[in-house]
Amino acid sequence: MSPGIQLTEQGNLRHLLTIEGLSSETLLNILDTAESFITLGRREIKKVPLLRGRTVVNLFFEASTRTRTTFEIAAKRLSADVINLNPTHSSTSKGETLLDTVRTLEAMHTDLFCVRHPESGAPHLIARNVPDHVHIINAGDGRHAHPTQALLDMFTIRAHKGEFRNLRVAVVGDVLHSRVARSQIHALSTLGVAEIRVVGPRTLLPREIERLGVRVFTEMDEGLRDVDVIMMLRVQRERMDGAQIPSEQEYFNLYGLTEERLALADSGAIVMHPGPINRGLEIDSAVADGERSVILAQVTYGIAIRMAVMAIILGGSEPRRSRLPDA
Ligand code: CP
Repeated sequence: MSPGIQLTEQGNLRHLLTIEGLSSETLLNILDTAESFITLGRREIKKVPLLRGRTVVNLFFEASTRTRTTFEIAAKRLSADVINLNPTHSSTSKGETLLDTVRTLEAMHTDLFCVRHPESGAPHLIARNVPDHVHIINAGDGRHAHPTQALLDMFTIRAHKGEFRNLRVAVVGDVLHSRVARSQIHALSTLGVAEIRVVGPRTLLPREIERLGVRVFTEMDEGLRDVDVIMMLRVQRERMDGAQIPSEQEYFNLYGLTEERLALADSGAIVMHPGPINRGLEIDSAVADGERSVILAQVTYGIAIRMAVMAIILGGSEPRRSRLPDA
């Protein structure tokens, strides 16, 4: 999928569909912009008028707690009008196509769609079919990409560990089914992390993953040794055909993050997880709730990151020149 569609001729962000192909300047600009929104969350009045008069539609065709809610909070803090469309209660349940649903909402003067979809490429399809004044943010598509998750993860790493250049980072678990892992690896690589490791059973690692410039470890203890950041992944049982993990207990025995395994990492290592977490499967509760865990900080930073992405995309866009009749 071409990342070229994401940028305007001037190199500004028009859509956010994937991390792949974005420059380190673009990624750092998003992180720096998010930094300015962090203090807003601590104020009594948590709003700025940057997107007053703009309309944001959350179009989520797949379950979500963190991403959908933080997109909504982010848009509201920027003073946009926000609509959450529930596909089970919309006309897609009567057979309306994805593009017809988008065109219908576009006719209501929507400026920005945040799209989650079980099919890889659905946000790209929409982006190729909307006029210039309409913008798309990928909120997670199939196994392909979850760019705002990767950005909030990078924000979390920078907030806790500082510079990216000297870090050893391990991405651990079900890499095969994970859109989060793909986006994280592209972001870590673009930001110049010293060493990116992927750790997991061969059955849950994509073939030729080494081509992304990562070191592969199938032994958990070896993969965690001396790392600065551990990025755990959810075991995606709903995407498995049944044969990819032996049993949940055995998976936990071999790849679950316990306090004993965490002790192999650097003494200042942080533990991340995009959520939702499976306690007792990929992570032990003592680690998930422990002092090295930054899992809930990731959620909070997600608001600032999504505010930054929306502000950058809509802040740089021309006022609407609708091909539609006035209303
Ligand atoms: N990390 C993440 O995408 O979580 P949700 O599915 O709850 O949005």
